[in-house]
Amino acid sequence: MSDFRELLTYSAKRVADYREMVPERPVFPSVDLDAAGEKFGLLQDESVPAMAVIEELVELVEPMLVGTTGPRYFGFVTGGALEGATAADVLATGWDQNGFNAIMSPAAAVIEDVAGNWIKELLGLPDGASFGFVTGGQGANTVSLAAARHFVLANSGWDVEKKGLFGAPRVRVVVTGERHGTIDMALRILGFGSEVIEPVLADSQGAIDIGNLARVLQNGPQGPTIVCLQAGNVNTGAFDDFVSAIPLAHQYNAWVHIDGAFGLWAAVNPRKRHLLEGIEQADSWATDGHKWLNVPYDSGYAFCAHPEAHRKAMSYSAAYLKGQGEDGFRTPGDFVLETSRRARGFATWAALRQLGRTGLAELVEGCCNLARRFAEQLADIDGVSILNEVVLNQVLVRFGDDHKTDRVIEAVQKSGECWMGATTWQGQRAMRISVSNWRTTDADVDRSVRAIISALATLDL
Ligand SMILES: Cc1ncc(COP(=O)(O)O)c(C=O)c1O
Repeated sequence: MSDFRELLTYSAKRVADYREMVPERPVFPSVDLDAAGEKFGLLQDESVPAMAVIEELVELVEPMLVGTTGPRYFGFVTGGALEGATAADVLATGWDQNGFNAIMSPAAAVIEDVAGNWIKELLGLPDGASFGFVTGGQGANTVSLAAARHFVLANSGWDVEKKGLFGAPRVRVVVTGERHGTIDMALRILGFGSEVIEPVLADSQGAIDIGNLARVLQNGPQGPTIVCLQAGNVNTGAFDDFVSAIPLAHQYNAWVHIDGAFGLWAAVNPRKRHLLEGIEQADSWATDGHKWLNVPYDSGYAFCAHPEAHRKAMSYSAAYLKGQGEDGFRTPGDFVLETSRRARGFATWAALRQLGRTGLAELVEGCCNLARRFAEQLADIDGVSILNEVVLNQVLVRFGDDHKTDRVIEAVQKSGECWMGATTWQGQRAMRISVSNWRTTDADVDRSVRAIISALATLDL
């Protein structure tokens, strides 16, 4: 066996061993962050054989890994990287294709085209929508809002790509306080600044208040406008009312963007699809692969109903790139920020191919059922309350008061049995449970509830 073959075989084995072990390892490792770096030693002059490097890497890093691919990690919104998608991503690394255009890699360009169209079909987005494979929700929101910026300013006679924002007509950005922070970040990067936001009220679950949206749109200074809606609030999982909000925003010629980092995937399940009624009328959509689709990091998608605006906002050319976008075949790099980039289409295609429509619908439904199982069992415990309507895969749990809630969360995290994060929801501290991993079962929820009960028992002593 060549050294390289041996190296890859060894690495693949270690990945497989890790994945098999992960359900029984502590979900969160015990790491002294200040001391841990020392174990990696100082930068040396001598070279080291690749196999020795990889053995050392595994030995040093494995004890520090967080069990996000395991079935009892419920922090943030975290997918568990499907087997097919993981292997495809390993191949993507091995093949090392540049996903910029079809000249750099026909394989990467073609598979991205196929997978992007499959996602549109699954989510019920318009056939003609353009798409970009990006790093995640942040990338997808930023690319979508760059297209929005182009479109609304072009409609006001302003070429923002040439002239920038100095002297441009003022763009209104209308969005609730329940937006994800990546919207603010995108607005900062795009030169709007977060203070441009005209806030709209949200209801008790974090969904947009339609009456207030109407008032904000009407009362503010009329002009180029972007309205950001949300499919899946990061705390509660709530959805905005797209049927009412999108036509209303369009009356003001607004570009409507939907941040659906995880919530858009509910569209694949017949029992949840109603939550997304009307989304096809929007102008752009952002979602993630590495959350509910269970594609490995990093993976997200930006879709746009106006391909020309999308392309004009994101593409460029150069003498050495002659032919870019002119060969008739979609150029992946025209729809994202990066030039040279990982071939993300392989892993996404593999996830969609492995699951199929049925498997994906079952994944979504399974996670929602497990979230409800959590809520029902926890609600039965004295002094424990569920703060949200569990419409999706998110559950907010409160243990009496702020202090006790934080202590329970800390004790559960330390137990190693499962991992849930903390949040503040409408002024109250809460445990935040997100069920987004294909591996989680009823037994994992039950075991996690037992871990919460024992944490509570220890605190009550
Ligand atoms: C609604 C929403 N938008 C955007 C993001 C950011 O996604 P990413 O971490 O992939 O950038 C998240 C992350 O949880 C989210 O829930």
